[in-house]
Amino acid sequence: MDLHDFEDVAENYDLYLNEMYKDEDNHAGFQEFYLDFARQYGSGGVIDIACGTGAVLLYLAEHGIIADGTDLSEAMCRVADEKAKSKGFNLNIFPANMTEFRSDKKYSCAIIARSGFMHLLTPELQRAALLNIRENLSDGGMLTFNTFDPHPHFQAQQIDTKDTDYSFRLEYTNKKGQREKIYNVISYDPYTQIMSGNWKFETLDDSGNVVDERIRPLKMRQTYRQEMKYLLELTGYEIVNVYGGYHKESCAGPANNVIWCVRKK
Ligand SMILES: C[S@@+](CC[C@H](N)C(=O)[O-])C[C@H]1O[C@@H](n2cnc3c(N)ncnc32)[C@H](O)[C@@H]1O
Repeated sequence: MDLHDFEDVAENYDLYLNEMYKDEDNHAGFQEFYLDFARQYGSGGVIDIACGTGAVLLYLAEHGIIADGTDLSEAMCRVADEKAKSKGFNLNIFPANMTEFRSDKKYSCAIIARSGFMHLLTPELQRAALLNIRENLSDGGMLTFNTFDPHPHFQAQQIDTKDTDYSFRLEYTNKKGQREKIYNVISYDPYTQIMSGNWKFETLDDSGNVVDERIRPLKMRQTYRQEMKYLLELTGYEIVNVYGGYHKESCAGPANNVIWCVRKK
């Protein structure tokens, strides 16, 4: 299965993500964070980049901000579009790579929510995306995205992990009404800073027997803060705020989720 092929998961993404994050404090409040950001900086237009199935895009629309959305995956765009239409919104949602998309308008606010930026697996791709997004921003336009800090504790745990060392993550009911169990395994390469994950989906029948199994690879790159500061300088952004979470926590010390708010210079 292709790394960025979300065709397989697009239909069920919301169902299992809600289950996955329902008890995770560091995820709570993400929609409010992006709504607040869009309200503060979006008077000249908002784009949700790597919008997925529209968790942020639709939340913005429901709160009166009609943004554009784009995602590499056509399947994710399709699901986001269907959800938008079912709620009575006709949004401009288009498939594109954040490293090269062009819109016919400039935006005062760009959002890459919930780790979309981490799908760029090399500094070169990160640089290409930041430069390209800058081209799509109006003068002084704002961008927010998040990164994970490489963390010695998790590195030590994940460095020797084999790609079959699965742990159970959750059980949920898929769109067809079937129970599915999800397992994952993540290993970490400190030289590339890439987390390589395998996500295994088991579909169960009514008696709990496994009737189907599919494995989906997922890679994300962690970024040192010092590295990101230089990359932002190199690509023409000024850092306005850096938070340690969606409640605008300080990130003076270690923070798993580092949220960057940067302005086009
Ligand atoms: C973790 S999901 C987050 C989706 C959404 N922002 C949310 O909060 O639910 C990451 C998304 O990034 C998209 N993506 C990955 N690489 C991309 C790229 N180079 N350009 C645009 N989108 C990309 C994937 O297709 C996926 O939908």
